Amino acid sequence: MKKLVVIGQGYVGLPMALRAAEKGFVVVGLDTNERIVRELGVGRSHIDDVSNEELAEGLAAGYTASSDPTCIADADVVVVCVPTPLSVDGGPDLRPVESAARTIGQHIRHGALVVLESTTYPGTTEEAFAPLVSGDLEIGRDIHVAFSPERIDPGNATFGVQNTPKVVGGLTPACTRAAKDFYSVFVDVVVEAKGAKEAEMAKLIENTFRHVNIALVNEMVRFSHELDIDLWDAIDCAATKPFGFMAFRPGPGVGGHCIPVDPSYLSHRVKAQLGYAFRMVELAEEINAAAPLYVADRLWQALNDNRKSVNGSKVLLLGVTYKPDISDCRESPAVPLAQRLASWGAEISYHDPFVPQWSPRAGAASLSSVEDPYRAACEADAAILLQAHRHYDLERLAAEGSLLLDTRAALPWGGGVNRL
Ligand SMILES: NC(=O)c1ccc[n+]([C@@H]2O[C@H](COP(=O)([O-])OP(=O)(O)OC[C@H]3O[C@@H](n4cnc5c(N)ncnc54)[C@H](O)[C@@H]3O)[C@@H](O)[C@H]2O)c1
Repeated sequence: MKKLVVIGQGYVGLPMALRAAEKGFVVVGLDTNERIVRELGVGRSHIDDVSNEELAEGLAAGYTASSDPTCIADADVVVVCVPTPLSVDGGPDLRPVESAARTIGQHIRHGALVVLESTTYPGTTEEAFAPLVSGDLEIGRDIHVAFSPERIDPGNATFGVQNTPKVVGGLTPACTRAAKDFYSVFVDVVVEAKGAKEAEMAKLIENTFRHVNIALVNEMVRFSHELDIDLWDAIDCAATKPFGFMAFRPGPGVGGHCIPVDPSYLSHRVKAQLGYAFRMVELAEEINAAAPLYVADRLWQALNDNRKSVNGSKVLLLGVTYKPDISDCRESPAVPLAQRLASWGAEISYHDPFVPQWSPRAGAASLSSVEDPYRAACEADAAILLQAHRHYDLERLAAEGSLLLDTRAALPWGGGVNRL
């Protein structure tokens, strides 16, 4: 049986490690976070998409979690799924990738395949990752190194590890072949890129495409409101065109680990290497970053129409995660929105079935989710629907909330409901 080590047991690494275990690999999930390793070892999953039952099946099938990097020494394949955040100056922070690469370099054996899955700028695998992994070993002969972008979509019940096509690009043709052979065991369709740079770029095209198109509708929603046009209805109509159009809908801003972060990796790379701006991404960043502040402006207007000020008003936020039906709050637009409203003197409370405690500011005391969102919406001066979690009875919210700002067009229009 082949041995696989998956470095980083988060949203990306854990599901793929379990899928590989199910397909007969001996899998070690390596993570530097001892708490995560301990919890996984006793069958407690920290990832929305992985239930404790699925983890138990993985443990029974040969999956183990560990923080001991010596497990790399006899691995046939090592896959890296560590975070790629932004540094304080907004550039790529490759420290987790480099640290994982150094660890691999200390233990890797002849004949192994090493794949980087963390989203990053084109050139990372070749220039920053492979030299630390390979040391004196020759890439394409002694070891194989490739990049394969992760496409996991947390909360998506239709597309998972197996039925989402996987792109692979190696540093040599032999590396690409080795990566393709590996993923073909547990992914239905594996697509060969010309090389690692093209595979890295493929992921950034996907995320930049979303970022730019979300920015497009987030800009359009502002003047559509002024012109009294229902943009959601217009988008639904446009979406009936069976070719050449893909629907994106406005919202309170983008969040999560990918859309607000990854395109910056690309624009930073273009600026650093070529000296000019990737203007489309910079504009999308500006528009999407302003989206939560536009929501605050619209709440101010709606309260004003009711002869109320934001200052002193009780404002309830419904759904503080970055997308519906998951618990991930990373880069959630609820944070800048809550900060803006609090700076105007609003009294903020929130409800989220997935987030029992939440703090809109680092270091600030955390709030507890209110127990009953319907009663809280009734008692607040205004409520803002940020994520239409499936737990919500939307009709009831619309009926009970006195003033409700709907950023998702999930509620029936009219009465106290204001649409973005
Ligand atoms: N979450 C998503 O939806 C998603 C989708 C596509 C791509 N990605 C990309 O995949 C990568 C991983 O994202 P994620 O959401 O799984 O992150 P995550 O934060 O959920 O998990 C990363 C894990 O890596 C561990 N880690 C950090 N440095 C380490 C090291 N040097 N050695 C071992 N373990 C280490 C952390 O403790 C953590 O458990 C990122 O590059 C991200 O951009 C994420």
